[in-house]
Amino acid sequence: MRKKIVAGNWKMNKTAEEALSLVSEIDNMVKDEVSGEVAVVVAPPFPFLQSVGKLVQGNDKMHLAAQNVSEHESGAYTGEVSAAMLKSVGVEYVIIGHSERRLYHHEDAQTLYQKMKATIAHGMKPIFCCGEPLEERDADRHFEYVGKQLHDSLSYLSNEEFDQVVIAYEPIWAIGTGRTASSQQAQEMHEYIREQLSRMFDAEAAYNCSILYGGSCNPKNAQELFSQADVDGGLIGGASLKSRDFTDVIKSI
Ligand code: 13P
Repeated sequence: MRKKIVAGNWKMNKTAEEALSLVSEIDNMVKDEVSGEVAVVVAPPFPFLQSVGKLVQGNDKMHLAAQNVSEHESGAYTGEVSAAMLKSVGVEYVIIGHSERRLYHHEDAQTLYQKMKATIAHGMKPIFCCGEPLEERDADRHFEYVGKQLHDSLSYLSNEEFDQVVIAYEPIWAIGTGRTASSQQAQEMHEYIREQLSRMFDAEAAYNCSILYGGSCNPKNAQELFSQADVDGGLIGGASLKSRDFTDVIKSI
């Protein structure tokens, strides 16, 4: 069975106090209102992982994610955070290859592959992000572009490693812009992604892989997006910073 996942990527927002108050609101609302089979994932900034993780520990629907990880095991890498460190504070998922990290931090396909290897080796699940910029979509090259992103970072994983991977399709033109992909655009791309995965790995693993949609997903459009056959949940930015909106998105699944 394919797992339904709604993940909140807080990006570089909130202070320690604000983070705790947001997650406790989400935790309470999820306990009270969310009944179905869905994994709710929160990805706060690094300094708040431990405190946020402690707060959600007793709620089996809630899971902790990091927004990034070092590709290196340990050592002289000032400012970096290793997979072992994340694992030691209860992190279960790691967002890898977000377009903001590819763009502002120049993370390339090979580095992302190494980050995935490190994440999986330490018993966590990568949420691998892919998605095209507007000019690629306008030129009708979006399938090719996303296919290459998948191939360049994932194809060296074994079938066993791939079993741990979650994919997030986030068209760059939809991130933080208020311009969501239509449910048809999302479905077409998710179906294409699944087909590419089935060429790289075994078909059953590709079928079981959760593929999330991200990009201006909110309580108004989530239900329509999540109703598509190959959309298994969402990676939510702006709307994950408000407990009411985030819970309403979760309830749309
Ligand atoms: P928005 O939901 O703010 O568009 O952000 C999406 C995103 O980048 C999640 O990782």
